[in-house]
Amino acid sequence: MKTLKRPEPINVEIMLDPKKTIMSKTDPKGIIEYANDYFMEICGYEEHELIGQPHNVIRHPDMPKVIFKWLWQRLNAKENIHALVKNLAKDGRYYWVITDFEVKQDESGEITSFFARRKAPPRDTIEKVSELYRKILSIEQARGVEVAEKYLIGYLEEKEMTYDEFIEDICLTETKKPVDLKELQYYKRKGLFVRMFR
Ligand SMILES: Cc1cc2nc3c(=O)[nH]c(=O)nc-3n(C[C@H](O)[C@H](O)[C@H](O)COP(=O)(O)O)c2cc1C
Repeated sequence: MKTLKRPEPINVEIMLDPKKTIMSKTDPKGIIEYANDYFMEICGYEEHELIGQPHNVIRHPDMPKVIFKWLWQRLNAKENIHALVKNLAKDGRYYWVITDFEVKQDESGEITSFFARRKAPPRDTIEKVSELYRKILSIEQARGVEVAEKYLIGYLEEKEMTYDEFIEDICLTETKKPVDLKELQYYKRKGLFVRMFR
């Protein structure tokens, strides 16, 4: 199949509509099988260009490899991950998303597909996460993925947080943070997406 030409990234952001969801479905290897209209509108590709391509067609070079390593580890373990991802559109512009995944399995527990839903993250989280990703990427380029991964682990250990807790912490505004244990348990059941976009 014809591989798509990678655009030269330009430092111009595409602003997402906070009410809309970018959705795609892939096979177990990450080959795109379906994408909704908003996906096409934002990334600028048409269905015939995108469907059948690996999901890394929209990979932005500013994204550290370790984030995708963790993403795939979680998906293959049939778990969700809320990741903050910078994506590359066809014209070289970029857009930030926060992800929410659903893993589909057959009766024997074999993964049949992944569904990804993405929304616009709160504006101030982008600044915080870009700074972290910039550091990880520079370590990755100078010392390799394993060293960068160790740095990220250390960064999170210092905060006594998992990656998800860190993302939750920077995505939830003070007003949306739980006030007591009961509320915390309720929110844990509801999941981050319901809490963020209620
Ligand atoms: C359902 C699903 C959705 C994905 N969405 C994105 C995405 O929006 N942006 C992205 O760069 N990678 C996404 N990925 C990860 C890519 O498959 C890929 O791992 C990533 O772009 C890094 O490219 P690489 O693995 O070739 O280094 C997604 C994977 C799956 C399974």
